[in-house]
Amino acid sequence: MAQPQKGICAEPNLHAQYLMFNVIDDDSQVVRAKLAHILDVFEHYDNEHYEAMVSGVIAIGASYWTELYPGLIPQELAPFPDMECEDRHAPATPCDLFIQIRADRADVCFAIGSEVCELLKGHVELFEEVKGFRYLDGRDLIGFVDGTENPRGMRKLAVAIVGDDDPDFAGGSYIHVQRYRTNMDNWQRLPLKQQEDIIGRTKTDNIEYSADDKPAFAHTKRSSLKDDQGNSIEILRQSMPYGDMTVKGLFFISLAKSPKPFTLMLKSMVFGDEDGVYDRLLDFTVAETGAAFFAPSISFIKKAKD
Ligand code: HEM
Repeated sequence: MAQPQKGICAEPNLHAQYLMFNVIDDDSQVVRAKLAHILDVFEHYDNEHYEAMVSGVIAIGASYWTELYPGLIPQELAPFPDMECEDRHAPATPCDLFIQIRADRADVCFAIGSEVCELLKGHVELFEEVKGFRYLDGRDLIGFVDGTENPRGMRKLAVAIVGDDDPDFAGGSYIHVQRYRTNMDNWQRLPLKQQEDIIGRTKTDNIEYSADDKPAFAHTKRSSLKDDQGNSIEILRQSMPYGDMTVKGLFFISLAKSPKPFTLMLKSMVFGDEDGVYDRLLDFTVAETGAAFFAPSISFIKKAKD
């Protein structure tokens, strides 16, 4: 199978740099060549600083795709599923290019980010840059360990990577990105037991509630779905906390071999179950952005550059 980009199944890192660009150059051939060059930049830093566990992902926005690679479209590529119910909103804020850089060294992320921006200069505008960081023992800023139920080992590939059923795009991955901003004051005012009920796990020890104890509004209840055959519907999450002393939240990233699992989970969180019981985590955290991408295989990006 075509080789997926290294950042898709990479293990979690200490630092991330997320860059969101809109393309202002209609010479798509130049942009294709630049993207292939960015893969070389990732590889160069990975070789030079192997201890930093460098990885990167280049992802192309759903609406920009046809401009960049006319004639060849990933079978399931679709815009971000904008959703709204009562005061819960998952807005779509489309973006042409998403570059994810991760490493165990902040300086290496910075250096790669600078080279990427230099390479794309004049062709794009950078409209968002966010630094993600590992917090305590892999917790998000609400204090709960994040990523525990993520697929591991070979299962990551099965969940995140398109297979031979879409042969032109095998080795690629559908990516959804949302920047959540959390109301930390309100969250911290909540008693521990209520926080734990909302996540469906204990806070300090990260132990999952039993099925009987898990409320229908718990985040892990609303996001843990099964298909008609009883199989788990899965995504690979690579979210990381971001923020400063004023703004705090989670940069949420979902990768999957189809956009459907993410869409179903988000729907279950925002609209809730058949009784309208929604994900109570959404009372404390608000999605400020939402964009859908496809990250093609390495060979696709290299081949399509001419
Ligand atoms: C689980 C936090 C948004 C999907 C979890 C867990 C935490 C968490 C603490 C439990 C540990 C784990 O298994 O990782 C958050 C926060 C979010 C957020 C703070 C936003 C600010 C989302 C979104 C989705 C999602 C938008 C998908 C649309 C999942 C899934 C699980 C999970 C699939 C595993 C459920 C299970 O099988 O137990 N999340 N999450 N999360 N989350 Fe989120």
